[in-house]
Amino acid sequence: MLDDIKEVLISEEQIAQKVKELGQILSEEYRDKNPLVICVLKGAALFMTDLIKHMDIHLEMDFMDVSSYGNRTESSGEVKIIKDLNTTVQGRHVLIVEDIIDSGLTLKYLVDLLRHRKAKSVKIVTLLDKPHRRKVDLKPDLTGFEVPDEFVVGYGLDYAEKYRNLPFIGVLKPEVYTSE
Ligand code: PRP
Ligand code: MN
Ligand code: MG
Repeated sequence: MLDDIKEVLISEEQIAQKVKELGQILSEEYRDKNPLVICVLKGAALFMTDLIKHMDIHLEMDFMDVSSYGNRTESSGEVKIIKDLNTTVQGRHVLIVEDIIDSGLTLKYLVDLLRHRKAKSVKIVTLLDKPHRRKVDLKPDLTGFEVPDEFVVGYGLDYAEKYRNLPFIGVLKPEVYTSE
């Protein structure tokens, strides 16, 4: 598996340090607000579980799984719910946790949905951001790292469902995705 990686973009230590910083910021932001922290499956699973360990406040967690209709590169912005929340969001402070924002279509849909369900507030924390790839106007409230437009995997991020278990963010060798 490791020989499919061209370079380590963000090390395990750099991730840990950043996740701790973000957790501390969010603790202050959400103290006494009992936020509903939403993990967008599957990519955000590792980030979310590490992040909440640095939030020394009352919070609840929930999970949502969504996918774009059809070809991602020609996505209409329509998103299908694979697994919905178990929690009622009306009146709740909601924090969406994402691994990466690319076109912004996934999060645009989710933010609109949660507002429609009358969340008291909706904010976004993302570990990684590719702001130059944006197709819709969508800005996270907190970002760990901006990354270049390369094929990044690891720490939750996949290529064809693989590499999510890498402890760092790496760049995939081009031959891995051109040989298929
Ligand atoms: C990836 C990533 C984000 C989304 C970002 O998820 O984890 O959720 O795409 O892309 P966007 O900004 O263009 O919408 P994916 O749909 O691959 O599912 P996964 O998290 O299960 O890998
Ligand atoms: Mn995802
Ligand atoms: Mg994916």
